[in-house]
This record gives sequence, C-alpha cells and structure tokens, in this order.
Amino acid sequence: MNFLDIIIKKRNKGKLSKDEIKFTIENYTNGNIPDYQMSAFLMAVYFNGMDREETFEFTHAMANSGKVLDLSEIPGIKIDKHSTGGIGDVTTLILAPLVASCGVPVAKMSGRGLGRTGGTIDKLESIPGFKTEVNIRDFINQVKEIGIAVVGQSGELAPADKKIYALRDVTGTVESIPLIASSIMSKKIALGSDGIVLEVTTGNGAFMEDLDSAKELAEIMVDIGKDAGKKMAAVLTSMEEPLGIAVGNSLEVREAIEALKGNIPEDVKELVLTLGSYMLYLAGKVDGPDKARPILEENLYNRKGLAKLREMIEYQGGDPSIIDYPEELPTASIVKAFEAKEDGFVEEVVARYVGDAAHRLGAGRETKEDKIDLSVGIMLEKKVGDKVRKGDVLAWIHANDEEKLKIAEEFLTKAYKVTQKEVEKPKLILGIIE
Ligand code: URA
Repeated sequence: MNFLDIIIKKRNKGKLSKDEIKFTIENYTNGNIPDYQMSAFLMAVYFNGMDREETFEFTHAMANSGKVLDLSEIPGIKIDKHSTGGIGDVTTLILAPLVASCGVPVAKMSGRGLGRTGGTIDKLESIPGFKTEVNIRDFINQVKEIGIAVVGQSGELAPADKKIYALRDVTGTVESIPLIASSIMSKKIALGSDGIVLEVTTGNGAFMEDLDSAKELAEIMVDIGKDAGKKMAAVLTSMEEPLGIAVGNSLEVREAIEALKGNIPEDVKELVLTLGSYMLYLAGKVDGPDKARPILEENLYNRKGLAKLREMIEYQGGDPSIIDYPEELPTASIVKAFEAKEDGFVEEVVARYVGDAAHRLGAGRETKEDKIDLSVGIMLEKKVGDKVRKGDVLAWIHANDEEKLKIAEEFLTKAYKVTQKEVEKPKLILGIIE
C-alpha cells in the first residue's frame, strides 16, 4: 500500500477502506509516514470528511495504537465522563467525587489545557503536593481501593492520537467533526470503562459554535461508543456565558470545594445533577436518570461527595487541609473589582472574552511548554439575567501584574453587556442524546 494513493483518494472524496485506515495510523505512529504527508491527509479529511464507517475504523485504529486497559479487576460498572470543554469548566472536580460517593467507580484520565484556561489536571495541580502523573498499575489500584482516581492522560494509551492531535494543532485541522470524535473516543475506548457520559458544549466559548454541529458531534461519538460495546449518553449544553462563577485554576478548585459543601451555583448544580444522573443510570444504580437526582443531591448536601474529594486528594499525595482552608490555595497579589457603568440587567457575559481575560492574566497556555499562573483568573459576581445598579461589582479580577490586569479589564468590558429590559436566565441543557 502507498500512502500517496490514500491521500489522493481522500482528496478526491473517496471512501477509505479499513485496511487503508489501519495502514495510515500504524505507519504514522511508527514514523514511516512523515508529518508533511500526514498534514496533507488531515487537510483532505478536514475538507472532505469521513463517513460513519471510516470514522469508526479511524477511532479503533487509534485506540489500538497503544495499550487498551482492562479494568475488569475493579468491581462494578465503571463510568467515564468527558466534556468538550469551555470557560469555567469545573464539572469534573465536583462530579467525579460526587458520583464515586454514590458507589460508582470513576477511573478518569484528563488533559491539560491549551488555550484560554488550564485543563482539569492543571487545576488539580494547584493543590499542594497533588500528583497527577500516576502509572497505570497505581491508577487501577487506587480506583479499586477508594473508588476514584483523576490522573493525567497516560502516554501509553492511544499514542496515535497524541501524535495526530499535536499535528492538527499546528496545521489548522482541529475543527473537523470526524477527527474530533475519533480523537476523543479513541482515548475513552483505550481507557476501558464500561460506559461514557459526554458533555458536548456549544456557543461562543466552545469548540462547536452552533448547536447543529454540536449535535452532529455528540451523535457520532455516541454511535462510536455503542459500536464498541459501551453504554453511552451525551448531554448538549450551552457555553455562551461561562459556567459557574470561577474562571481560573485555583479559583475553580475553590469553587469545587465550596460546591461540595453545598454552596453550588445554580447552573453548575443543574449540569452536575444531569451528567451525574446519567452516570448512575448507565452504571445500573437506578432504573431511570430521574431517579438518580435525589441520591446525588443527598450526597451533595450531606458532604459525602466532599469526603470523597478529600480521600482522593490524600491518596494522590495532596494536602487535604485545603478543603477546610481553601484560602491556602495559590492566591493572586491583586484583586480588583470590575464595576457596572449603568443600571439595568445583564444581557450577555460572552464566555470567550472572559476566557481571553483569564488567559491574558496567565491562566492558560499557548504552547505545551508555557507555564500557567495557577492563582489568577476571574470571579463572576453577576451573570446573565441579573439586575445591576451602576457601581455594582460585576466581577473580580485576580491578577499578579498591573499591565495584564488592564488587558483583562478591556476584555471584560467587551464581555459584559447591560440592557434596560429584563432578561431571562438562559437555558443550560439543550438536549440529551442516548
Ligand atoms: N479534544 C480531544 O481530545 N481531541 C480533539 O480533537 C478535540 C478536543
């Protein structure tokens, strides 16, 4: 087989066979196909797409490019969760311990963030001592012993995706539904959970800006999972304004701790209960997702979820006293109010611009090598629908640098729109795909 023929076939809108896809993934992973040819191939896929069958084969070839874990020694039905991400996306830090506290084992590998703010792993690293690099044996043992582990993505799983994703990032080929779906699902399949609940975000702060594309992505990922024998559900959510109140790494850890103490913003609660309900349902704990909500709510308010987070922090070498004294997490040297300039109602808090403000303060990275400032970010006081008076604090800016603070103020000025008319609270959950 010749890779040039495969590139030309895709360029001419042809359908690739299983063998051609296997050949592509195997030979790119082992270095036989150079980056320049793979770049051309990815661009051909970007423009001409892949159909369902091709996407399934592409996913499986990437999943099988490294280790595929067998989690069967962990008792129970293991349910994973994945979000396509957004601004203030604190969900995993609350949801994983809450679901684990209900008796569903959560074995989760997460990524670092490129872009506006850090990923779950960056956020967890703001906890002093917390280890995110855990080998596979210890990862499995931890889930067996305490029912939860949230660790960094192992390089041993789906190495083809790691190499291809890095190339997509620098060749303008990230925003392709078959490539995103196969990238996410190859890692999920290699991890070996029995079921996966996906959150697919849409809006100005998400990968997928329009609902139709988000729906298409969710549907193909659910189909890939089912085809691989996994229990699947996807929740479509709006990412027009940031989720919750914190945008930044240690700020989001503080938000998660507060949430598990019962002080949870309404939108975060709605999301956590919806995703959690499907996790408990797929795990067979209840015979319908609605039946899971009261169980999750109970463990939110009786602090069993918080106790599980404490157990995980201790097990992974972190300092559990931050649960009682979250102010000991990294804090910024400057905290400045960003105020309303007129009376009215908040019409928009553009997620993308709030993310840009946090990014410019140092909360995100451009390249993998950049260092994140874990302490900086934005705390939102007012969200869409809230009534405000001139001079009210709309948000607090946590900064370590006066120049960066000014830039963050400019982004917040673009993010907040105040109107004279009353504004309804927006809908967060836009649909469920099973
Ligand atoms: N996240 C991934 O893991 N892969 C993509 O392609 C996009 C988001």
